Amino acid sequence: SASLRAHADARGKFIGTALATGPLSDEASYRTIAGGEFNQVTAENAMKWDATEPSQNQFTFSGADAVVNFATQNGQQVHGHTLVWHNQTPGWVQNLGATAMRDAMRNHISRVVGRYADNPAVVSWDVVNEVFEENGDFRRSFWYNTLGESYIADAFRAARAADPDARLCINDYNVEGINAKSTAMYDLVSELRDQGVPVDCVGFQGHLATQYGFPNDLRQNLQRFAALGVQVRITELDVRIQMPRSAAKDATQATYYRDVVNACLAVTACAGVTIWGFTDRYSWVPDQFPSEGAALIYDENYQPKPSYTAVHDAL
Ligand code: XIL
Repeated sequence: SASLRAHADARGKFIGTALATGPLSDEASYRTIAGGEFNQVTAENAMKWDATEPSQNQFTFSGADAVVNFATQNGQQVHGHTLVWHNQTPGWVQNLGATAMRDAMRNHISRVVGRYADNPAVVSWDVVNEVFEENGDFRRSFWYNTLGESYIADAFRAARAADPDARLCINDYNVEGINAKSTAMYDLVSELRDQGVPVDCVGFQGHLATQYGFPNDLRQNLQRFAALGVQVRITELDVRIQMPRSAAKDATQATYYRDVVNACLAVTACAGVTIWGFTDRYSWVPDQFPSEGAALIYDENYQPKPSYTAVHDAL
């Protein structure tokens, strides 16, 4: 049967994966599946601030370029991730005073977005990532603590100036269902757009876990954002289980993947679904969540799991 990407193409949606530059450089199985099954990619780490500007005004694009070149060879669109975040950002940024921090943010956005502005593969960016606390307050990150909430609008304006054609997104986790955090996101996006700030898109990360249940109002939530006039997308889908795997847990996980894909298919403004990797051989989950894992759609030996079949059949 045909690849995931063939089915997604026929639906007018993307099915994507995050790419890790290590195996991308030297593992044939990794490259074959990444290139063959997906029509969209996101750099898992290679476009983050610590990778692209480790010291002030010293830009390094080797990893980012490797991802963009792979995508170009394989006819895939690239979602840039991420320009302004509180993690994986060097200490030199965090220690700046307000004026210097704002200047550094604008310069970073201008240089990173500007590098790919004329590259047809790179079509969208996560401009800001994870700006909210769970209760809907702004996260007390060094960005917020130094600059106040205006850094968000400033970041979007700088990104628009650097690439007028790129789709500009705000991205977060635990916003898949309707809750305090997603409602704060909804209110912010509405307010920014009313003010003419160029927010084009909202990303719902989708780091799900079978033990916490499925956000059954996902489709309804995507729909309320769509009504604001923005594109929506699932940006970092994975569904972790408590280890070890079992047939029953695999089956439950598969229903989560199916239901996320179906929610996106049901919403016209939903552009597609990006999975946060594809093989359990390379996944952030075991490092981040002790005793959890097996969150992706291929096992550690590149064999498709029930979750692969679920995505395939849903598309
Ligand atoms: C994760 C990567 O997968 C890991 O390799 C890295 O060590 C930490 O970051 N939300 C995001 C992603 O927006 O950038 C994070 O990616 C996962 C959570």
